[in-house]
Amino acid sequence: MLNKISESPAQTELLGKDFSALLDKQDVVLLQGQLGGGKTTFVKGLAKGFGYRGRVLSPSFTLARKYPAKKARIHHLDLYRLAQEEFKSIDIDGYLYDRQGVCLIEWGEKIEDYLDRYLKIVFLFFGPDKRKLMVSQKGYGRDKIKNW
Ligand SMILES: Nc1ncnc2c1ncn2[C@@H]1O[C@H](COP(=O)(O)OP(=O)(O)OP(=O)(O)O)[C@@H](O)[C@H]1O
Ligand SMILES: [Mg+2]
Repeated sequence: MLNKISESPAQTELLGKDFSALLDKQDVVLLQGQLGGGKTTFVKGLAKGFGYRGRVLSPSFTLARKYPAKKARIHHLDLYRLAQEEFKSIDIDGYLYDRQGVCLIEWGEKIEDYLDRYLKIVFLFFGPDKRKLMVSQKGYGRDKIKNW
């Protein structure tokens, strides 16, 4: 477990950009925490870190968005509107097992039990502009986040 503090949206973006350097193809990052916690903001920075120059929008209504970045394809998912277990009826595996991609999943707790291996970031409110990001990992044989 590792904690980071962000004092602004810009800082959260930068944290996402830094974090992108730790990722390899086929990694899955679960993003958790309340509405407005900063999950999408973090993904914006992460996509920049991957060399993606386009726009990153919240996929709350579309469920998934794809960003063809230089380093890997990014699958940006938002499970907010899905009922627990409902992800089984969408083709979630198509995203998870894309060998050329990474998956960033907002409201990822809905799928957590289904996965053997993932990185997880929980966004906690510490004030209007202050967030704590709690980062952990599961199922990796090595400490993947130690250099963050
Ligand atoms: N330190 C911070 N980091 C990130 N966002 C912040 C911070 N301080 C304030 N904000 C504001 O909080 C909001 C975060 O929105 P964002 O869409 O990233 O959240 P989210 O976790 O994706 O929410 P949702 O669950 O609705 O998808 C933005 O309006 C942003 O300006
Ligand atoms: Mg969001």
